[in-house]
Amino acid sequence: MTLDPTRERLIQALPKVELHLHIEGTLEPEMMFSLAAKHGAKLPYASVDEVRRAYNFHDLQSFLDLYYAGCDVLRDHKDFYALAMQYFTRAHCDNVVHAELFFDPQTHTARNVPMEVIIGGLRDAMHDAHKRYGITSSLILCFLRHLSEEDALETLEMALPYRAELVGVGLDSGEKGNPPSKFQRVFAKAKEHGLHLVAHAGEEGPAGYIREAIDLLRVERIDHGVRCDEDPALVKELVAKRMPLTVCPLSNLKLRVVKDLREHNFAKLLRAGVHVTINSDDPAYFGGYIGENYRATADALDLTAHELVRVAENAVHAAFLPEDQRLSLAAAVHKASR
Ligand code: ADE
Ligand code: ZN
Repeated sequence: MTLDPTRERLIQALPKVELHLHIEGTLEPEMMFSLAAKHGAKLPYASVDEVRRAYNFHDLQSFLDLYYAGCDVLRDHKDFYALAMQYFTRAHCDNVVHAELFFDPQTHTARNVPMEVIIGGLRDAMHDAHKRYGITSSLILCFLRHLSEEDALETLEMALPYRAELVGVGLDSGEKGNPPSKFQRVFAKAKEHGLHLVAHAGEEGPAGYIREAIDLLRVERIDHGVRCDEDPALVKELVAKRMPLTVCPLSNLKLRVVKDLREHNFAKLLRAGVHVTINSDDPAYFGGYIGENYRATADALDLTAHELVRVAENAVHAAFLPEDQRLSLAAAVHKASR
């Protein structure tokens, strides 16, 4: 990495908003082993090193298989608390000031972990992270798109007693063959409850899935969205609609959405006026938290200091926060850029 000291310092100093982070994707192998020992759960690996060696993915599904297997060690309130607290401690080092956490309840409720345990553990860590680090955060419940819409509707029902803890709903898991159109009813229902809407689209799936997410699900942000440039008219629409894309460059590299970070279209989209942001997705699996994603992208694509500030501003404006908090974060970004 040959990033110059000026951009290196700027990246560290920028107050960051993380909008695409799966909390289960922050499960580091060390914690996986300690929780497996605590619960007497068997892992298909002999050591932490062996787990890390297995993190050699060839596509999204090869990653998801390991990610869902890892989730099995998350069983009680303390596990969810510890997972989230470890993330906040790491994120604080990268100067994250606000984070909107995705979580996948269906992976846990299918193992009879109650919604109360999942949301309660995360909520308590979010509360303590605010007290300890000043980080604000919120939760986005993601539906697993490889499961049925009926399953998603039941999950939403189970989560409604915790409505106050949620800022929105999202859509994740294996994209190919599971178009956004499959989830129109559950997204409409979530909207009736005043929840914000986002969806993974255009990661491995085609640009048409991005259109579906916007036109049929009525999402306010697209997660990933990097395949939008297969449809130049869509790119123009994203600019006109000021539709944020929560891009995760190191994830795209690890899951072979791109062969080399220097071939990533992030800079091209930014320079075309798309509201792109930088995020970490599943940092324990992809080898870099948000700061590392900023550094690697800046280095590979020669992002200027001015562009890095714009990326941080884009994230502030795309956050599901009250206007006054967005304005004060925007002022903090501006101050760090001087
Ligand atoms: N779940 C966790 N990470 C994901 C990703 N990058 N795409 C889809 N589903 C996910
Ligand atoms: Zn994701």
